Amino acid sequence: IEVLSVASEVYPLIKTGGLADVAGALPAALAERGISVRTLIPGYPAVTGGISGGRVVAEFGALFGGEARVIAARAGGLDLIVLDAPYLFDRPGNPYMSPDGWDWPDNWRRFAALSWVAHELAVGLVEGYRPQVLHAHDWTAGLVPAYVKYGPSDRIKTVMTIHNLAFQGTFGADIFTQLRLPSHAFSMEGVEYYGGVGYLKSGLECADIVTTVSPTYAAEIRTPAFGMGLDGLLENRSETVFGVLNGIDVTAWDPATDASLAQTYTASTTHKRIANKMALQEAFGLEVANAPLFGVVSRLTWQKGIDLLVACVDALVAQGAQLAVLGSGETELENGLRAAAMRHPGKVGIVTRYDERLSHLVQGGADVVMVPSRFEPCGLTQLYALRYGAIPLVSRVGGLNDTVIDANVAALYAGVATGIQFAPPDEHALADAIRRALDLYRQPESWKKMQRRGMKSDVSWETSAARYADIYANLLGLKDYDDQ
Ligand code: ADP
Ligand code: GLC
Repeated sequence: IEVLSVASEVYPLIKTGGLADVAGALPAALAERGISVRTLIPGYPAVTGGISGGRVVAEFGALFGGEARVIAARAGGLDLIVLDAPYLFDRPGNPYMSPDGWDWPDNWRRFAALSWVAHELAVGLVEGYRPQVLHAHDWTAGLVPAYVKYGPSDRIKTVMTIHNLAFQGTFGADIFTQLRLPSHAFSMEGVEYYGGVGYLKSGLECADIVTTVSPTYAAEIRTPAFGMGLDGLLENRSETVFGVLNGIDVTAWDPATDASLAQTYTASTTHKRIANKMALQEAFGLEVANAPLFGVVSRLTWQKGIDLLVACVDALVAQGAQLAVLGSGETELENGLRAAAMRHPGKVGIVTRYDERLSHLVQGGADVVMVPSRFEPCGLTQLYALRYGAIPLVSRVGGLNDTVIDANVAALYAGVATGIQFAPPDEHALADAIRRALDLYRQPESWKKMQRRGMKSDVSWETSAARYADIYANLLGLKDYDDQ
C-alpha cells in the first residue's frame, strides 16, 4: 500500500506541537507493516535547509499565483515530498504565524496550494509515483479530500485525521473562486461552512474515513460540549469516524539512551533519575533540594488548563513542592506563571522558549508531569511521562482518559495504577489531585511501583499502526471492515 501523508509540520524538521511528533513517527511504524508512506510538507526555511540531496520531480510556473517546485528527499528517516514555493513558505516565524504572532493573511492560499499539490501527485504528477491513499492531517490539509471528491479519479481514497478540532481554518466566501474547485463544491456537501469556506469542515465532509487521535475524543466530539460546531456533522457520519490512539517514537524517547538527559536509566534504576532532577532544578533556577518536583511541558493556552495551574501554584508550594514549567503561549498565562516564579523564588521556575532538549530533561527529572487540559485530543506529554517514570497527573478528558490509569483505591489494590486523573477540569479538582499526588509521593514503595508500571506500559505505535494499516486496507478493498 502506498500512502501520501499531508502534514504542515513533521519532526525532526519543523515542530510546534504533537502533530509533528505523530507525522514524524507514524511512517516508520507503518513501514514495518509493509505500508510505504511519503510525507508532503511545505518548504519552510527549516525544511529546505534540513534536506540534502533532494531531487526536483515537478515544477509549476504558476501555482496559485507563484512559481514552485516539488522536491523528493530523505531526511530524519522520512521520505519527504517538499513543496518548495518560496512565495508561500520561505518566511520567518512558525508554520502558521509571523514572528510577531499574527496568522499569515494568505494562510488560505498557502494550505490550499499544499492540498492541491497532494491531489496532483495522486493523479500522476510524477511519473512512476501513484499514492493510493491520501492521509490528510488537520485543517492545513483539510482541502485534500475535496480536491479528490471533485477531481477526476474515484480510485484515490482519503483519510482525514483530526488532531485538534479547535483549529478549523475558516475563511470568507470570497476565496472560493481561487481554490480551483467546481462551483458546486461551494455547498453543504463540499467546502461551504456558515456562508464561508471551512477547510477542516470540508475534510470531514468529503473524506472516506475520519479518524481522531483517541477513542474518548472520537466520542466527545459528537457532543455539543466538545464538537466546536462540527458535532452534528460528526454524529451523522459516526460509523466512519474512528479513534486511533497516538503512540510515541520509543527510540527518540528512551530514557536508557537519551542524550538530552544528565543521566540515563531504566525501569530498574529509577533512583538514578535524581541526577536529572538536580540538572532540572538548576536549569529552572530552583533550589537543588529534596522536594517533590512537578513539571509541565505545554503550549500555554486555555485548552491546556494553564490558568487552573496558575490558580493552584501557591497551594502547591505551600505543601513543600516545586514547579518547573517549559512552555510559551498566551501572554496573560505567561505573566501569571512569571508572577508565581517571582512570589516563590527557588520554588517555581518558568522557561518560555521552545527547547526540545529541555523537554526531555523535564520528563527524565520531574517526579510528576501535569496535563490539566480542558480538552485533549490525545496528548503526548503524558505518554512521554509514562515512558520516563514521571507520574502523569491529568484531567480526565480525551486521550488523557485513555492513557492514564488513575491511582484510586481499586486500581492500587489491583496493581494497575499508572498516574492520577481528576475531573472536572477546574482548580478545585486540580488542587485535590496535587494533594493526592503528594500523599502517594510520601509512600516511596507505591510510588516506585507506579513508576515502573508506567515505564513498562506500551506507549509505542505498535497497536495503533496496525489500526491505520487496517483502515487503509479496508479502503482499498483489501479487507473487510469487520477485521478491525
Ligand atoms: P499539542 O500538540 O496540543 O501541543 P501534545 O501533547 O500532543 O500537545 O504535543 C506537544 C508536543 O510539543 C510534545 O512533544 C511536547 O514535548 C512539545 N512541547 C510543547 N511545548 C514545548 C516547549 N516549550 N519546548 C519543547 N517542547 C515543547
Ligand atoms: C493536537 C492535540 C494533541 C495531540 C496532537 C497529536 O495538537 O492538541 O492532543 O496529541 O495533536 O495528535
